[in-house]
Amino acid sequence: MLFDTHAHYDDERFDEDREALLNAMPEKGVGLIVNPGCDLASSRTAVDMAQKYDFLYAAVGIHPENCGDFAPAMMDGLRALAKAPKVVAIGEIGLDYYWAENPPRELQQEVLRRQLALAQELHLPVIIHDRDAHADTLSIVREFPQVTGVFHCFAGSVEMAQALIKMGWMLSFNGAATFKNAKKAPEVIAAVPLEKLMIETDAPYLTPVPHRGERNDSSYVRFVAEKIAEIKGISAEEVEKATWENGKAFFGI
Ligand code: NI
Repeated sequence: MLFDTHAHYDDERFDEDREALLNAMPEKGVGLIVNPGCDLASSRTAVDMAQKYDFLYAAVGIHPENCGDFAPAMMDGLRALAKAPKVVAIGEIGLDYYWAENPPRELQQEVLRRQLALAQELHLPVIIHDRDAHADTLSIVREFPQVTGVFHCFAGSVEMAQALIKMGWMLSFNGAATFKNAKKAPEVIAAVPLEKLMIETDAPYLTPVPHRGERNDSSYVRFVAEKIAEIKGISAEEVEKATWENGKAFFGI
């Protein structure tokens, strides 16, 4: 079975067919899904969905793009949500320097630090979003040596990947690794051991080749497994099995 470790089924693009789509996942070979939150409301939705679907687990967190209205009291809401059943991580959290209109960098960094501290307090792993902010993200996670996690949609260098693995972190890849212009991701996938990799879709975004342009969903995570298999010269079944075990061990499922 496939483990999609990162998908956003609270997204409005699933409003029309969410229930039918999710109910069909086990027959499409998807046995586990983690749905991270991006703010308090979507984290609450993720927690609720985890109650409804056996195979779906939740993470709760404030995404860097959504931290513009951050108030310290939100940490209490997040802490309460993090204690709900089937919450397996704090995420997705991190830094996003790509969009000029994103919240100020200093605020993103403060919100990231607070959520890493919450993960430490609750002994939960974290799911990190790092877009065009590699140096700052790495230096901030290093401030919390007791916290480990996964860099989702990892876009850093082989050197950064090796530094993270040394610290006990995992890397996760999605459809972006299948794109024709993907350069760094295949290099990193080739360089790091299979035991350090997880697969994801980031649905509804980043749909893998050959479905690029369509709405993404967890059934397409098999194309990510196939890409990793191709790069590593092993079978897709081997990747499927290893990433399933890696994900279960990482999230404590
Ligand atoms: Ni995401």
